[in-house]
Amino acid sequence: MDDTEFIDFQVFGPTPVGWDPATLPNEVVDEDGTPLRVKGFGEPDPRVPARRVPDDPGVVALREHLKANNGIRGLEICAPDEVERAARIYRRDGFVVVRDALDEEHLALFREGCARRLREILSHPGRDGRKYMAETGRLPHRYCYGTTSASRQMMHDPAWTAMIDLPTTTPILTEIFGTDDYLVWGGGGDLSLPGAIEYQHLHTDGVDAQPKGAAAEARLRHFRRQGMGIDSDKPFDELDFRTQRLVMDRTPTGVTINFTMTDLTWENGPIREIPGTQTATQPPPVPAEEPEWMRLSTLVGAPAGSAIFRDVRTWHGATPNLSREVRALPSIEYSAGSRNGSGFQRTMPHEMWQTLSPHAQRICRFIKQAPGIWPYGAGAMHPLTSGRRAAYQADAGDRGEVASVYTDPRSAGTAIRLFNRDHDSGY
Ligand SMILES: [Fe+2]
Repeated sequence: MDDTEFIDFQVFGPTPVGWDPATLPNEVVDEDGTPLRVKGFGEPDPRVPARRVPDDPGVVALREHLKANNGIRGLEICAPDEVERAARIYRRDGFVVVRDALDEEHLALFREGCARRLREILSHPGRDGRKYMAETGRLPHRYCYGTTSASRQMMHDPAWTAMIDLPTTTPILTEIFGTDDYLVWGGGGDLSLPGAIEYQHLHTDGVDAQPKGAAAEARLRHFRRQGMGIDSDKPFDELDFRTQRLVMDRTPTGVTINFTMTDLTWENGPIREIPGTQTATQPPPVPAEEPEWMRLSTLVGAPAGSAIFRDVRTWHGATPNLSREVRALPSIEYSAGSRNGSGFQRTMPHEMWQTLSPHAQRICRFIKQAPGIWPYGAGAMHPLTSGRRAAYQADAGDRGEVASVYTDPRSAGTAIRLFNRDHDSGY
């Protein structure tokens, strides 16, 4: 990293960061940072331009194409007080954009946190003349605040925890879940540097498991709280197939909010979301088969300070950032109360939890570490899984372990994920 790049570094507006021609298109690094170009390791973009420079002819052509065509036509953007409209659009499309979710103070706090943490991620030098170390298993110039944190979440950073319970988002979450008794799973969020010229493959962040017994009845209660008039006394098992599907479709177990630090424009890598796919049981198309209309199905027009509510099942992916500014979308991840803390990791310090609102304290109860114990790995940001594993193990000792898992690149956002397992947290 060239320190002069980071003078007055911010995650909005023009920056010299990014656009590293030494980092080859579709290049991915392994657990230790060795660059690989191996099929099956990550998902390459078959239509990527030849060179990572703004005046490459392929980049110029892509820029012209995106300027003319990028973005969902007629994208609906809600105001924070349009609670029912936002929930209706969310249930129909699997996502909704709500503007003005962050006031000036919260936007500034989140921007500062994102810049501070990104600086840490990029402080690890790249190999053989590359500007930055890439994140293990992720396409170049793309990182995730959650997966680069050795605790796997950002719940130890006050810039993130301040966004858990906002007057603009809590009523909409309550409407979506049909109750204020939902939970926080964690928080992180994806970002791209200028010069991230590849499309990230379409994927889901979560899929439905077959609900049985109490879990199925919990989803049915969630469905009924939405005022859906169905056979009110029948259990889930006795509902017809279409109704069972509708119950599943309308009761997401995971809702992520991504907050926009910049206006999303045709050129700065707006997230793409494919409407209606929260109900799909088939996998999304692989990059070579993705139609152009899906590549252009992006949230251009969402202003800085917006909240993008996403059903985690909805097909989505990052798009090329051909601009001169960072595109950061920090997130808070929520889940239905019926999950009851199962699989949750203790990533929030008790002392930070104590400073939260009563509602935030309640919905964060399963991710709070015990008093006096710092969450294992929290505070260490590293692009490589080897670095994160070392940081977690240094904190946890024999009180936890790390598993390295190769996830299906078509379902998860990255090919290698670390799963921390705290022995004392029941997970
Ligand atoms: Fe994702």
